[in-house]
Amino acid sequence: MCGIVGYIGSKPAQQILIDGLKRLEYRGYDSAGIGLHGGTKIKITKQKGRIAGLSDALPRDNPIETVGIGHTRWATHGEPNTVNSHPHLDYSGKISVVHNGIIENYGALKKFLIEKGCEFKSQTDTEVIANLIGYFYEQETDCEQDCFEWSVQKALNQVYGTYGLAVMCSDYPDVIVAAKKGSPLLIGVGDGENLIASDASAIVEHTKQVIYLEDDEMAIVEKDDVTIKTIHNKRIERELKEIDFSIEEIELGGYEHYMLKEIFEQPDALSTCLKGRLDMNNYKIILGGIENLSRQLTTAKRFILTGCGTAWHACLVGEYLMERLARTPVEVEYASELRYRNPIIEEGTVVIAVSQSGETADTLAAIEMCKERGATVLGVVNVVGSTIARTTDAGVYLRVGPEIGVASTKAFTAQVAVLTMMAIELGRRRHLDNARTEQLITDLNKIPNIINDVLKYSDMIKDISKECGDRENWLFLGRGYNYPTALEGALKLKEISYIHAEGLPAAEMKHGPIALINDGMPAVFIATRCSNYDKIISNIEEVRARGGKTIIIANEGDEEIERYADYLIRIPNVDDALEPLVAAIPLQLLAYHCAVLRGLDVDKPRNLAKSVTVE
Ligand code: AGP
Repeated sequence: MCGIVGYIGSKPAQQILIDGLKRLEYRGYDSAGIGLHGGTKIKITKQKGRIAGLSDALPRDNPIETVGIGHTRWATHGEPNTVNSHPHLDYSGKISVVHNGIIENYGALKKFLIEKGCEFKSQTDTEVIANLIGYFYEQETDCEQDCFEWSVQKALNQVYGTYGLAVMCSDYPDVIVAAKKGSPLLIGVGDGENLIASDASAIVEHTKQVIYLEDDEMAIVEKDDVTIKTIHNKRIERELKEIDFSIEEIELGGYEHYMLKEIFEQPDALSTCLKGRLDMNNYKIILGGIENLSRQLTTAKRFILTGCGTAWHACLVGEYLMERLARTPVEVEYASELRYRNPIIEEGTVVIAVSQSGETADTLAAIEMCKERGATVLGVVNVVGSTIARTTDAGVYLRVGPEIGVASTKAFTAQVAVLTMMAIELGRRRHLDNARTEQLITDLNKIPNIINDVLKYSDMIKDISKECGDRENWLFLGRGYNYPTALEGALKLKEISYIHAEGLPAAEMKHGPIALINDGMPAVFIATRCSNYDKIISNIEEVRARGGKTIIIANEGDEEIERYADYLIRIPNVDDALEPLVAAIPLQLLAYHCAVLRGLDVDKPRNLAKSVTVE
């Protein structure tokens, strides 16, 4: 994922941009660059590879420029090399652009510009934007409004696709123009300085006051002023928001990796997520963000839960919970499929969109489509003020703080916790008897402490990873509530360790995948007392009969299981509806330790750090 940082103020911009880009490293990139406004000229430094390399390539002799833009690129159009990195200059060298997103009609625009005599150096869609702005800038010498701003508007009105943009013009040393459509962008408002970023973590050390741009909006950012307009030149008043996390929360705090830090943060993160929401006197759940819709939710005819990747796994747990506890029809859809389908959304359908970042394009598109069809859409989101949080009708925040690790860990357990609360409350209002409601709320309140106990097995899980981490194919198997947990365990291992892993409902194994099992193949079973215990034991037998190595997550005190396990990880007994919250923890640790033992960069896995070239 690409990242943008911009600075305009009185301090030297170079180091601020480099530090901001470093804060965005976790999003993955293949090249980076910065552009500094030298008063009459824009000086670009960019290169393939790490920000540390870019930093070394920059002049050390106290750079004085106080205006600049920076970018980390994850290649989409054209290979990851220095020429394709941002910032891009237009053919005149006056306009400089950093861009996140994809310009869909860049081919047609490029043809038009070539016909006008424009020459291109890179293969990117971004250079097309730079040249289009440059083209209009050169055409218009007599515009009523500011010519630079006007040319950006004029260009953006020709563009189809998504963008988060920061643009400088060599004739305008005191302004950066930013714009947004479908790709997050915010303006950090400081004292005598302003910043631009695609992610709040890039600027939080300078200011916590921000303006979130909406789609089709632009900001004219000066040192002491920020003006917001639409790309059709209509002035907008926008209130300041406050970033809800501190700089300390995005530091490693003594941990070797963000992923490990976030795994270990889960007891505290979940306590914060549950805090004030479990009414232990009246045994009710209080979710302030959706309270106004409680009647509509109670009478809803159907729920559609949607998200991507880990969030989709949380939705699957939500389906089991809402069906079981609230006796309500639920469908779970990949947002990436839902957005292109023609779903039937009749009256009484409520959509719940789940996302850590609140910016996932597929989830956003699915939300838009469902809203257009009349559905009420709720968000279960972590990042406060994110696009999903702002575009849904109502929602519940995860409150787990920034998740920097690419592998979603604390967000997963919090997503499950929020969906659990929703299911319990819906159940309480519909069919669930008081005793069961009380018991679930009481047990849910204990989950943070239980997770704390499970984390103590980290070293033991590391030992298992030492013995099995060299195997290239793994299976993850669970039933009932723990079938989605098995999928999540497999995804974590794939994403971080690059080990091929499949997650399956355990009973499905015999319908084909059993053929994969060979000598020593690790098969991770979630075989707690609650999850169809006897049936899962037969599945374990099937694996053992074929020489597979069993890593079993079982309950404390279960002696019977010992003879089936090559490796045993104990978790405390909890209500089966709450088990995914606990069973996910050893699986996260397993993926983490396998990756580290393989010498991999856990916080920058190759699904983000390596380029994908799309021409
Ligand atoms: C999981 O570890 C992933 N990084 C990925 O599956 C992620 O959960 C997915 O891309 C959805 O992201 P979101 O929660 O920010 O919408």
